[in-house]
Amino acid sequence: MEKAQDQSRPQPRAGIMDIEAYVPGKSAAPAGVKLFKLSSNENPLGPSPKAIEAARAVAGKLDVYPDGSARRLREAIGEAHGLNPGNIVCSNGSDEILGLLAQIYLAPGDEAIFTEHAFMVYKIYIQATGAKPVAVRETDERADVDAILAAVTPRTKIIFLANPNNPTGTYLPFQEIRRLHGSLPKSVLLVLDGAYAEYVRRNDYEAGVELVGANENVVMTRTFSKIGLGGARLGWMYAPLAIIDAVNRVRGPFNVNATAIEAGIASIRDREHVARSVAHNETWQTWLTDEFTGLGLRVTPSVGNFLLVHFPDDAKHSAAAADDYLTARGYILRRVAGYGFPNALRMTVGTEEANRGVVAAITEFLKS
Ligand SMILES: Cc1ncc(COP(=O)(O)O)c(C=O)c1O
Repeated sequence: MEKAQDQSRPQPRAGIMDIEAYVPGKSAAPAGVKLFKLSSNENPLGPSPKAIEAARAVAGKLDVYPDGSARRLREAIGEAHGLNPGNIVCSNGSDEILGLLAQIYLAPGDEAIFTEHAFMVYKIYIQATGAKPVAVRETDERADVDAILAAVTPRTKIIFLANPNNPTGTYLPFQEIRRLHGSLPKSVLLVLDGAYAEYVRRNDYEAGVELVGANENVVMTRTFSKIGLGGARLGWMYAPLAIIDAVNRVRGPFNVNATAIEAGIASIRDREHVARSVAHNETWQTWLTDEFTGLGLRVTPSVGNFLLVHFPDDAKHSAAAADDYLTARGYILRRVAGYGFPNALRMTVGTEEANRGVVAAITEFLKS
């Protein structure tokens, strides 16, 4: 027998209340303790000084609607990356684009694939459409192309793949991405989420520009959040025109606000700030990996601006205990049990002071 409909108040569509809401990284320290927020993979060097200036300059003009197509911003992105601005859509964080793609290409009964330890937002957006989320196993905490291909069915409409992935920081070499794409039906949309692309320094890595340019079923999503503008909420996608057209029909007409547009233009033109941020990350990510490994902790090899650190099995030195210890001292890392890592913490590569402080605190913690 069908379940009686509760008529006493508006009811969300079937499946909506099964969604586990996204829990953002913590951002508070105990009173009187200096806060080091290392839970959301923000840029420890902050926004580009030029972006700060541009955001200030727009403050006096906030009565005027922004350009709904963010044309100057798309041109600035196009110039920085050698892309046609007509193949770019900007968004309120790259989250928004991921949600729009799900909304446009998925219907109840469809399936969408992501990997075991993938960024959690994919599952939420898939569920919100009534489609079926399909999580496939990873190998050594890395996406496995064969496992993904084995999960493709006639109902599969989208594959979401973060490259590199959050929270593992692992990546697939471009050859593997090509192999994946080469075996997919043309009707399946491959979403390459390059949220951390700026930080990758590997010869065999590509964010996906070439693949988007040569195919009708690949998009690349990117963000300004990890390079200093998390609070501005600014993302974009590079996609074939048919997909651009569909997204432009569904997105909010002024989805990117005036401050984000101006800060984004200034930020992407400030190549020095990006270079400085990437160099800082390279130095300190290597240092942190060596230090944690030296303390006997396993670190998943990361190419992003964060590290996944695994803790020992004894309850006294578990990730949860380490998190409490660090939080009490102002170091806010990210618990990742929800990502399938109950005994690990994810740490954003921070300032020198934050990095040295965390290593010193964990050294003490492990002795306790
Ligand atoms: C893999 C991945 N994709 C997308 C995002 C979304 O970023 P934003 O909406 O800030 O652009 C994040 C943020 O943490 C991420 O880790």
